[in-house]
Order: sequence, then C-alpha cells, then structure tokens
Amino acid sequence: MKILVLNGPNLNLLGQREPDIYGRATLEEIMARVVAQGKKLGAAVEWDQSNEEGALVTRIGASRGRYDGIVFNPGAYTHTSVALRDAIQAAGVPCVEVHLSNIHAREEFRRQSLTAGVCVGQVTGFGEMSYQLGLAALVDRLGRAAGGRRKTGKPA
Ligand code: DQA
Repeated sequence: MKILVLNGPNLNLLGQREPDIYGRATLEEIMARVVAQGKKLGAAVEWDQSNEEGALVTRIGASRGRYDGIVFNPGAYTHTSVALRDAIQAAGVPCVEVHLSNIHAREEFRRQSLTAGVCVGQVTGFGEMSYQLGLAALVDRLGRAAGGRRKTGKPA
C-alpha cells in the first residue's frame, strides 16, 4: 500500500510559525514519525510540501495509479481552492484531510473547507496526531475496501 502525505503552503515553516497554534515540531520531524507509523501499518509513505496551488494540483493529478491514498493538509488553500477540490475529485484517489489546529474553533473564514467534501473524512485539531489519526483511518479504510473486493471475488 502506497500513501502520499501532502502538505500545502507555509507548512514548511512549522516549528517557527505560530508555535502556540501549530506546535514546535518541524515538518521534517512530523513527517519522519508519520513515515515510521506507516511502516508499522504496512504502508509505504512518501511525503511532499509545496507553497504553490498549481504544484499541489499537479501532484494530486499524478497520484492516480501511483498511490492508494492521500493524507492532505491543504493549509490556507483549504478555505479557497476550488482547483484543489476538483483535483481530488478528478484523481479519484481516497483522500483524508488533516489539520494541526481545529479549523472550526478559529476565525470564521477558516471554518469552511472547500476540500473536505470530496475527501473520505477530516481530522482537525489534534496537532501532529491529526496526521497519525488520518493515516491510520485511511489505511484501515483501504484495507477494508481491498478485503471487501476479495470477498466478492472481484479483481482488486
Ligand atoms: C492549517 C489550518 C489552516 O487554516 C491554515 O491556513 C494553515 C494550517 C492547520 O494545519 O491547522 O496553514 O491547515
């Protein structure tokens, strides 16, 4: 099972960016722990980060047939990007949206996610654990889907 963990704008600044909201761990530290968790769950995790909306759209578009699932923190694009929503829908790769902070408990403009509606689910507000919870839920979902297909005798 191959999983892409994708990070949007300004998440490269984790550790120094508003630590009271986002914590003191760097993105590299958080991703290293998610990769290690993936190994335990039997999933090969690759990760990436971009500050550019188009680059994220392209990465998601190229994920079809390459990854079984995506854990995605779209950062501020969560609240603005129809293009990312369309990319997730078009790729057809199961995606879990994650946020370090609880976007529903912050400013009004953060309470709406344009992307969550085309995702399998959303995990928000648990700091770096949001990534771990999102990965565990996604791996479980993909495992069940594969098991279900095997049971019905349809090819995986
Ligand atoms: C964030 C929440 C967004 O509103 C914000 O723009 C971010 C980070 C989070 O992980 O809590 O950049 O996605």
